[in-house]
Amino acid sequence: MVEPVLKAVFPVAGLGTRFLPATKALPKEMLTVVDKPLIQYAVEEAREAGIEDFIFVTGAGGELFKSHFGPAAGLEEALRERGNDEALASVLDCLIDEDHMHVTPQSRPLGLGHAVGCARGLVGDAPFAVLLADDIILARPGGLRQMVDAYGETGGNIVALEDVPREMTARYGVMDVEEDLGHMVRARGLVEKPEPKDAPSTLAVIGRYILQPEVFGHLARGEKGAGGEIQLTDAIAATIGQIPLHGIRFEKRYDCGNRLGFIEANIAIALARDDLRDSVRQMLEAYP
Ligand code: G1P
Repeated sequence: MVEPVLKAVFPVAGLGTRFLPATKALPKEMLTVVDKPLIQYAVEEAREAGIEDFIFVTGAGGELFKSHFGPAAGLEEALRERGNDEALASVLDCLIDEDHMHVTPQSRPLGLGHAVGCARGLVGDAPFAVLLADDIILARPGGLRQMVDAYGETGGNIVALEDVPREMTARYGVMDVEEDLGHMVRARGLVEKPEPKDAPSTLAVIGRYILQPEVFGHLARGEKGAGGEIQLTDAIAATIGQIPLHGIRFEKRYDCGNRLGFIEANIAIALARDDLRDSVRQMLEAYP
């Protein structure tokens, strides 16, 4: 029996430079896709996977996450008085119980590995998930749920994967494959942002991880990797041999960290919704 994954870390301290000026005062993860901020898609996916504790590693604007997932008595009362049950339900859906929401700052932007390392005290000595909210995975069951199910079989560290065109490998962590079992892949290595000619495969890590606490030990060394940043990929790679690493393939994720991916996610999510599908389809017909 593996120890259950009950805590999730959401690194939300990035500068969001690709979305300036929208992200000048607003954290990237608070940008809206259709009618929910990116971070809420990730929180809902985590909840579906059985996560009970939500840890936000924040930069400037961190208070916004507390308000978004915290109670809003005045708004709730106003909606109740107006009998607007649908809007009220959407507001109540956001709630994370105060005792289960943790916010911790990342004082300096030293990389994803550093951000995750900032959550060490809150995670403690237990397996944990990491979700990068700018990757949206539309899967049924949800992305992290599928990973938690696989984790029940394999234990160890698990990352989500997408097969990308070779010319894109320098944007991602890329897996060195030991054994390809189809939906699941066993790794012998993991490399951050390799040039296409050096990439060991085209299986790229997308923003979902299940990790063992040993990863924190490697992060704490503060070793700098690709781009001069403390890389989560390097810490995971350092544990292979001691801790097995598997990847779970996903067919489609939306990279909301860039403009085109963000626009595509808005369209795809609207088209997946019964209340919007027909009118959005009709609207798009005006743009042949
Ligand atoms: C981060 C990780 C990278 C991963 C990517 C997924 O990179 O370092 O391994 O493939 O997220 O979105 P970033 O997008 O922060 O450069």
